[in-house]
Amino acid sequence: MSVTRLLLYIKEEGLLQETIEALRQPPNHIPFDQHDSDWPALLERIAKSKPEVLLLDLSAVPSELNIAMRQLRYYSPRLKVVALHSTADPQIILGAMRAGANEFLNSPLKETLQPAIERLLSSPDFESPSPVTRGKLIGFLSAKGGCGATTLACHVAYELQNLTRKNVLLADLDLTSGLVGFLMKTPSSYSILDAVKNLSRLDESLWKALIVEHKPNLAVIPAPASYSRWDHPDENQLRQVLQFMRTQHDWIVLDLGRSLNSIATAVLDEIDQLFLVSTLEVVALHGLKTIVHGLFEQGEKLQLVLNRTPKMMDISTQELEKILGRTLYAALPNDYMGLYQSYSSGNLLNSNSGLAQHFALLASKIAGLAPAKSKKKFALFG
Ligand SMILES: Nc1ncnc2c1ncn2[C@@H]1O[C@H](COP(=O)(O)OP(=O)(O)OP(=O)(O)O)[C@@H](O)[C@H]1O
Ligand SMILES: [Mg+2]
Repeated sequence: MSVTRLLLYIKEEGLLQETIEALRQPPNHIPFDQHDSDWPALLERIAKSKPEVLLLDLSAVPSELNIAMRQLRYYSPRLKVVALHSTADPQIILGAMRAGANEFLNSPLKETLQPAIERLLSSPDFESPSPVTRGKLIGFLSAKGGCGATTLACHVAYELQNLTRKNVLLADLDLTSGLVGFLMKTPSSYSILDAVKNLSRLDESLWKALIVEHKPNLAVIPAPASYSRWDHPDENQLRQVLQFMRTQHDWIVLDLGRSLNSIATAVLDEIDQLFLVSTLEVVALHGLKTIVHGLFEQGEKLQLVLNRTPKMMDISTQELEKILGRTLYAALPNDYMGLYQSYSSGNLLNSNSGLAQHFALLASKIAGLAPAKSKKKFALFG
């Protein structure tokens, strides 16, 4: 099966006919595929089939053009885009070029289309924008309130930065009662909602103004100081903010709050790995089982972490895994006093503590690194 290098996304009937005629013109009949479904399906198709050139009807773009272009390049960083419009409106041309289109063409296309496409198809890849970095996105979700999602998100983000030396972002998506900003000592007047509200002009400099540095290469974007249901972000836009975060950071750690809330559900598809945090408490395990059941189709993306595991468990890890129908990714010990004292003095856990070393082990497992050597011997279980 030959792979089509040229894809058309043109809704305006007259423009479509004119484009097809121009492409079929002898002597250089250029083969193409046409996408006639909606925009999300177009993004999916581009991600899978990676055409080299997209002919994009500007009147068919559902959002602002710079957002649409960012989405296209997110799914296919080397995609070359020819913006098409029936008229040569200077504002539209300027908008297309600013948004990053490789070419702008307007009717009549007879003389201009084939040469433009041939030029793009024969131009080497390095002429297209450099590939967008795609940071890894992981989330922590508490099986019920208070299981430790925030504690894990903060410490794992810290340890991920420590171990990988990469650029890490910790984002609080527990919009109703997020505590990340407080625990990380990063008070801010901005939250993830400000990024959503300013999506159309979100770029590196605006992003830098919204996030707060906890330490070099570990940034935080807290939850809003106050939140009502009217502030609930548009879920599609929220996903776009997450996609943008991937272009700015190597690792993004999300605190998703508790149980399968609407935000956690909305961002699920965007996340690489979801860690469901539970304790051995009956109510928590019940919540855990319900969520595992509900997210059955997520497969390996969903991982279970048992927190505050007592030294002596009434039930063995194997028995628990049998009940849940899944293996545990990690089991972390209980250290209430240690955390209490650290939080009271406004710090994260001291890295010498046993629990902190478990956080480091968990972070190294997530990052796929060999665990750093510690004085004591630790394992993620027991
Ligand atoms: N491994 C642990 N050992 C002892 N205490 C812990 C442990 N992990 C978390 N805690 C404590 O449990 C409490 C709840 O933790 P945390 O706020 O992280 O949970 P959460 O799931 O984010 O809760 P919420 O639903 O309120 O957002 C805190 O007092 C925290 O210090
Ligand atoms: Mg929390």
